[in-house]
Amino acid sequence: MKWQVCKDYDSISQKAAELIRDTLIDNNIRSVIGFATGSTPIGTYRKLIEMYESKECDFSNMISVNLDEYIGISQDDAQSYYHFMHENLFDHINIQEENIHLPKPDGNTKDYNAVLDTVGRRNIQILGIGNNGHIAFNEPNEYLNARTSIIDLDESTIQANARFFEKEEDVPKQAISMGIGDILNADLIILLISGKKKQQATQRLYHEKKITTRFPASLLFAHPNVVVLVDEDAFGTIAND
Ligand code: GLP
Repeated sequence: MKWQVCKDYDSISQKAAELIRDTLIDNNIRSVIGFATGSTPIGTYRKLIEMYESKECDFSNMISVNLDEYIGISQDDAQSYYHFMHENLFDHINIQEENIHLPKPDGNTKDYNAVLDTVGRRNIQILGIGNNGHIAFNEPNEYLNARTSIIDLDESTIQANARFFEKEEDVPKQAISMGIGDILNADLIILLISGKKKQQATQRLYHEKKITTRFPASLLFAHPNVVVLVDEDAFGTIAND
């Protein structure tokens, strides 16, 4: 796991977008990129849109797969991750609609695993981290799923994601999420961490020496090529610990 501490949110977003741009250029016949939702990757998506507008980046041969989706809301719902990805990225670049893949809110895990198998290994997987160390929607537990599964969301995740909904009761209680084996099936994993709220999770990941399903981000230690782009707010005083 390589750590790159960047000054601020803008710098982590720029670096992540450049890594994606360079991969798209190197594999211009076909690239597979795994995208994430949450507020952290939004800056990266803005940079990619700017790169598209300035003709630095062409998405016509990019295949996208997303990590997860809420269960029980429709794709048209403003809170769905389908909607999020279109609003924050896909509607503003030249990706082909048939190359866009997200798990469906009906919770059909078999179909999504088949999509992942067809699409194959990703060139890059973008990830964020939950306050409790979750990746995608793989919550701390005594076991974690290898493949796409239905997840009961932790109370802390429901509370953290309530900011996007009118009322906390509106936050879905379940999600469909890629499993750990699916997440690791990428040549490069870019973990984006930003903001003071993520200091605790950042410190734990930085100091953790073991792989434990009680802290799902530690499963990333099993991957040989993970880059953590973290801003100073999230990194805090780790360097002086
Ligand atoms: C959700 C998503 C995760 C994301 C996490 C953190 O739970 N399923 O993929 O990493 O939120 O989101 P944020 O970047 O808003 O802190």
